[in-house]
Amino acid sequence: MTAVSLTGVSKIFNPGRPDEVAALSGIDLTIPAGQFVSLIGPSGCGKSTLLRLIADLTPASAGTVEVAGKPAARARLDQEYGIAFQQAGLFEWRTVQRNVELPLELRGASRAERRARATEMLALVGLADFAGHYPAQLSGGMQQRVAIARALAVHPPLLLMDEPFGALDEMTRERLQSELLAICAQTGTSTVFVTHSISEAVFLSDRVVVMSPRPGRITATIDVELGTRDDAARQSPAYFAAITAVRRALRGPGPVPDIVEAEGAAAVAAPSPRTSGPASSATAAP
Ligand SMILES: Nc1ncnc2c1ncn2[C@@H]1O[C@H](COP(=O)(O)OP(=O)(O)OP(=O)(O)O)[C@@H](O)[C@H]1O
Ligand SMILES: [Mg+2]
Repeated sequence: MTAVSLTGVSKIFNPGRPDEVAALSGIDLTIPAGQFVSLIGPSGCGKSTLLRLIADLTPASAGTVEVAGKPAARARLDQEYGIAFQQAGLFEWRTVQRNVELPLELRGASRAERRARATEMLALVGLADFAGHYPAQLSGGMQQRVAIARALAVHPPLLLMDEPFGALDEMTRERLQSELLAICAQTGTSTVFVTHSISEAVFLSDRVVVMSPRPGRITATIDVELGTRDDAARQSPAYFAAITAVRRALRGPGPVPDIVEAEGAAAVAAPSPRTSGPASSATAAP
């Protein structure tokens, strides 16, 4: 089963006008169900636009976008995904609890179910004590955590996240990263995650997709094989090797990212007899 399938997708804003912007070009990306994929690339390369295309919040100029085997528009109506974007986007007049309940309301869940699920999700993001507060009474980071709780509330098969942890302190960020991975593993959720952080992308992802400056194209995909994502993983040779591979790919153009070199670099930095198999593998796009 394929979670997301993009074929020949491009996006031009304001075509034919003086303010025309070619945001994305020739994007082909297939995400199997259950995979965690990060998008990384320079500011303005079209990461948010790509996520918005998948979410059917903006139409593609060319190509096809499918989610769960359906056209993106159908998938949106069927609530095939949850979204947490750069801005929390909470409803100011609803309490925290009722913000998290919203997608469950849309789905017609009973009051008791809504309440139980929202309480569970708020506990997960560490906001159990703020259920009755309004968004304006929370810090930016807390609002972002409410948005994450809301995105997860219906346990959607696909999560679309746009720098959801950008506003959080490092400790909260690491805790939420681990919680997110646990939820995804438990529920089989597929995730498309936009981040500026190479280390975050590597820690979270099965695959890191590297994009070029505008118009955004996929220039490399790097498979990450970290095994169990725990504190040890953050210090493993595989982790550092993948970070090196992503950094090289981001640095392009120039030599194609070379995983042999990256592995060698990691092995010099932190030799470990327990390392087995490739730490990661990089593929340069044609
Ligand atoms: N609604 C819009 N109308 C016109 N141009 C847009 C619109 N949305 C985005 N763009 C343009 O498309 C390009 C890609 O923007 P996008 O927000 O996808 O970048 P990004 O990779 O998410 O950047 P960042 O890392 O800064 O969030 C930019 O040049 C931006 O100006
Ligand atoms: Mg963005």
